[in-house]
Amino acid sequence: MMKSKILFMVLICLASTPIALSQGTCGRPLVDEAVYRPFQNEFAVGESVTYSCRTGHQLQSGYTSLNRTCQADLTWSSVGFVCERQSCGFPDTPSNGHIVGDTYTFGSTIEYFCNKGFELSTGASSVRSNCVPVVGSDPPTVAWSVATAPTCSRVPCPNPTNIANGRFEDSGVAYEYGARIEYFCDNGFKSNEASPIHRTCDENGTWGDPPQCLVDYDCDFEDFHQPTCGYSNTGWSREFRRDGLSGRSYVLHRSSGDATLTSPALTIEPPGACLSFYYRGTLRGTRLEVSQTTPGTNDASLSGGKSESDWQEAKIDLTPSNNVEFNVKVSGDPADVEIDDLTLNLSPCSVPTTAAPPGVQTTPVDEGPKSDTEDTVTVAPPASPPLSVPAIVGIAVGAVAVVLILSFVVYFCHAKKQREKKGIPGVPMSSL
Ligand SMILES: *[C@@H]1O[C@H](CO)[C@@H](O)[C@H](O)[C@H]1NC(C)=O
Ligand SMILES: *[C@@H]1O[C@H](CO)[C@@H](O)[C@H](O)[C@H]1NC(C)=O
Repeated sequence: MMKSKILFMVLICLASTPIALSQGTCGRPLVDEAVYRPFQNEFAVGESVTYSCRTGHQLQSGYTSLNRTCQADLTWSSVGFVCERQSCGFPDTPSNGHIVGDTYTFGSTIEYFCNKGFELSTGASSVRSNCVPVVGSDPPTVAWSVATAPTCSRVPCPNPTNIANGRFEDSGVAYEYGARIEYFCDNGFKSNEASPIHRTCDENGTWGDPPQCLVDYDCDFEDFHQPTCGYSNTGWSREFRRDGLSGRSYVLHRSSGDATLTSPALTIEPPGACLSFYYRGTLRGTRLEVSQTTPGTNDASLSGGKSESDWQEAKIDLTPSNNVEFNVKVSGDPADVEIDDLTLNLSPCSVPTTAAPPGVQTTPVDEGPKSDTEDTVTVAPPASPPLSVPAIVGIAVGAVAVVLILSFVVYFCHAKKQREKKGIPGVPMSSL
């Protein structure tokens, strides 16, 4: 029973294909991206097939012949058409975003990304769109699976950080990518950043580290609330002077005993910082010195000036360290010494001097005139002083007055001439 069945199948196999081909049929007429009808595996000589383009494809323009025929030599007639991929067209372009992918035909995929500082509402990093057949379309067409470009919105930033001893201003902008806020330090504090101190909401939605407002070591001793700014003081007394460094102002004064002004620990970055201040007084037998106590490298002793009332500028380089401490100290014989306008510049002193050469007065540039004093006895003869403010004001007022008087004289002479010429006072020429 079994044997006979196998034999039967072998016979069928032998009888089918080779014999059939030898009797004359054409095989399957396969063409890329097209399907043929009727669907058979063999065709007799003279039989035809009609093609249609596969899904997502269309007949390339110019071709009309979609038929082929099984010829007498058992080959198919030539292919007279081309099926090409249909195009979805240029995808919808996103604002504040961009497209990756540059083929737009059936089967292609493009990807939408947001530009720097923008994001998709879904939180995804991108959106893919495929060129796919449109279901039920007639004639069959293709379209992007994501028809409308996704929306890219600005990355938001959290509320900016409040800082100690300062504040920020945001000029009413929304806290999102590109927004800029400005920080200000309270009086007596300053930042080591260049002004204006600002932060910008970056592409990751962060403001970065907030600035720091540190105690201002620049001290003119004027602020009642912070008489010695960020310095701690022993022995110096803050006193009013009519002939202070900038006219009527406060100075620090020492008359007896040790007086020391000490900085807190500071960080001074390379290449260093320049401490400068003005001082006056008789230093004979008195020591006015600046010491950098940590790292303990600099120790500058200042020499006396020409006279007690001459302000002299001291400039001392501080060595970089993350723990700099310095003090301005007077010791030795009792003597009146005053200091003013202590300033710390975060770059080395341009001229590394500690004091003026003996007998030469270094006059600070922006220093007002030291008009002759009621409070201080000057022993040295005044060396041809520069013009004082009252003198300059006097000259200016005089000059203005002269110009005014001259203008009046010219005007009146001119007016008088005109009246004599026309005889009609007060009527403009154009109305004559
Ligand atoms: C293609 O073949 C089909 C079916 O045989 C026929 O109806 C049609 O007219 C033919 N078309 C052309 C262009 O030869
Ligand atoms: C934003 O984040 C990326 C990735 O972490 C980083 O490479 C880039 O520097 C960041 N941008 C800013 C402004 O911090």
